[in-house]
Amino acid sequence: MAREIKTVGVVGLGTMGAGIAEVFARHGRTVIGVERDGEMLAAGRQHVERSTAKAVQRGRLAEDERAVLIRRVTFTTDLAELHPCDLVVEAVPEWIDMKIDLFTRLDGIVDAGAILVTNTSSLSVSEIGAATKHPERVAGMHFFNPAPVLKLVEVVRGQATAPEVVDTVDALARDVRKVPVVCGDQAGFIANALLFGYLNQAATMVESGYATPEAIDAAMQNEYGYPMGPLALLDLIGLDTAVQILERMHSQSQRDRHAPAAILHDLVAEGRLGRKSGQGFYGESPQPGRPAAGEPAAAEIADALIRPYLDDAVRMRDIGYAPEGDIDTAMKLGCGLPKGPFEILAGR
Ligand code: 3HC
Repeated sequence: MAREIKTVGVVGLGTMGAGIAEVFARHGRTVIGVERDGEMLAAGRQHVERSTAKAVQRGRLAEDERAVLIRRVTFTTDLAELHPCDLVVEAVPEWIDMKIDLFTRLDGIVDAGAILVTNTSSLSVSEIGAATKHPERVAGMHFFNPAPVLKLVEVVRGQATAPEVVDTVDALARDVRKVPVVCGDQAGFIANALLFGYLNQAATMVESGYATPEAIDAAMQNEYGYPMGPLALLDLIGLDTAVQILERMHSQSQRDRHAPAAILHDLVAEGRLGRKSGQGFYGESPQPGRPAAGEPAAAEIADALIRPYLDDAVRMRDIGYAPEGDIDTAMKLGCGLPKGPFEILAGR
């Protein structure tokens, strides 16, 4: 039986955490948002204010609803203020030690009946849970960027997660107008496991001088109707985050496809992290990886990217990790794609 969740804590108010806080506040939850210092807290608050202002501008939210939404969120740097929460979402950077430290501290702050979820993209939910006193109340609740816009939530069942906890997180996701897909604890879960091989391949294409970021992005948008191309998406996700996710996937899969492209490491080392730092594959300073010769045709670029991605989807189905329907749902609602891989394969 699902439990009622009225008060939600969100720890880490970066792009994802701030978006998640907005989602819960928008759907009537009292939200307590925590950041580690005043500056980051102010940035998190600003993120919520800007995002909701955009929603008002685009006619998605009324001005008075926006005011109510913002009033529902308390911003604090004190983790202890999370004690009244029925559920806490962790959205701090992808470092296992940081997450484990946080979960063990949360253990001593919230009530015995509270649920702790991680928004991790690629770390093990079971490993995080195992470090706590009550692994049965730890699950994954993985949102997609931008969280207020994309509908998918992957609900991740760790080895010790209680079925009632999975049911509660699943019901909560539905209640905040998301579409949950329950899955097992594998690096990248469903959507990232398929998305990141494709993103990494696109980065390699730029690195080798096969095509420019603009040509690759335009090819995926024009040939397959993707809302954004892979390099623009890498900039949105953050290149440092992308490297972390790929490294984790690579250590589990051992597939070359998941070994982060050298260009990703180079851009991160230059401080070009994507949108959050103002520059990534796109930006003001010289673009990396200009092709020496002529650009390949859009259809050729798109085909080269889509085939291995479709193979990965088939492989995921064949190992029994997820059924076709969930894979299609995850890719459409997690990445805004017009078609899922099995719909493409079926020519639908
Ligand atoms: N609340 C509600 N709706 C909002 C909103 C908010 N705060 N902010 C924007 N919207 C709505 C807008 O009203 C608009 O709806 P409309 O078109 O019906 O009016 C829609 O969301 C998009 O609005 P934008 O103005 O932001 O801009 P775009 O139309 O340029 O779309 C995009 C931008 C949503 C980012 C789109 O390009 C997209 O979906 N891209 C794919 C992103 C993707 O793949 N994300 C997944 C990344 S992987 C990940 O997150 C996993 C992690 O683990 C790394």
